[in-house]
Amino acid sequence: MGALIGRDLLSMADLTSDELYGLLQLAAALKTGTMHLQCHKILGLLFYKASTRTRVSFSAAMYRLGGQVLDLNPSVTQVSRGEPLIDTARVLDRYLDIVAIRTFDQRDLETFAAYADIPVINALTDLEHPCQVLADLQTIQESFNGLTGTTLTYLGDGNNNMAHSLLIGGALAGVNIRIAAPEGHHPLPEVVAKAQALSGDRTEITITTDPEAGVKGAQVVYTDVWASMGQEDMATSRIPIFQPYQVNEALMAQADKDAIVLHCLPAHRGEEITDGVIEGTQSRVWDQAENRMHAQQALIASLLGVE
Ligand code: CP
Ligand code: NVA
Repeated sequence: MGALIGRDLLSMADLTSDELYGLLQLAAALKTGTMHLQCHKILGLLFYKASTRTRVSFSAAMYRLGGQVLDLNPSVTQVSRGEPLIDTARVLDRYLDIVAIRTFDQRDLETFAAYADIPVINALTDLEHPCQVLADLQTIQESFNGLTGTTLTYLGDGNNNMAHSLLIGGALAGVNIRIAAPEGHHPLPEVVAKAQALSGDRTEITITTDPEAGVKGAQVVYTDVWASMGQEDMATSRIPIFQPYQVNEALMAQADKDAIVLHCLPAHRGEEITDGVIEGTQSRVWDQAENRMHAQQALIASLLGVE
């Protein structure tokens, strides 16, 4: 994984297919304990949005590597008082070895990365959530003993970070991706084009408004909240629009009989997923959440060159 040393992960598209598979292999070895890595580096967490999984799994991953974590809560730093991002980036670059940033605008992440030499990791922006997709792919790989040729259907808001990173990650991993979303909530055309270019003719990418056709025969059924962080004012008005895309027992009956259900979490039970499905035998959401820690440990170790 030497090729990843010193690099950033701002988008899923920052990885090649080989690098992605290398990370998944390392994550699996770390999970099973066949590989132990130690470092004495410092990870900073600069999060402008709430987080349970990403914050804690990054921290746990770094502590398990023997490193330290600094939680740079914007509300108690000069960031909240308007210190320019480019100044913050150059200062934090001098103190930290690596930083994970959760923010709204992808361009802010890119600006930070342009002014900091240390590896910068996208811990979620409005555009992408690549770290989640590393864990998602690890979970699919565990469930089916491989990734190539599987079909994942994502239902709900197609124009969000999860849908975008799944499109790109699927193309890199050889997973067919179907997005079933209401009209007006489809993925950004430029992200679909990027995924298509990365896939070539290796995988199928389907964008549909039909939830039943979308899940037909799929091995992985995936959903996310209908209103992402920052879109809270749209949450109520979106419910009737997204209701047909709810992952419920009837919809699951259309998927492959061995299909698994994934959700990046947090979930709104009764909205995008029913209680019965998230608690049911096809749900892998807790393994998926656990894998955040393993996948990110592999990522941190690879970006820092830990051996
Ligand atoms: N899935 C995910 O990123 O969860 P958090 O928002 O809790 O970090
Ligand atoms: N799309 C969701 C993902 C949360 C992990 C959001 O951005 O709020």
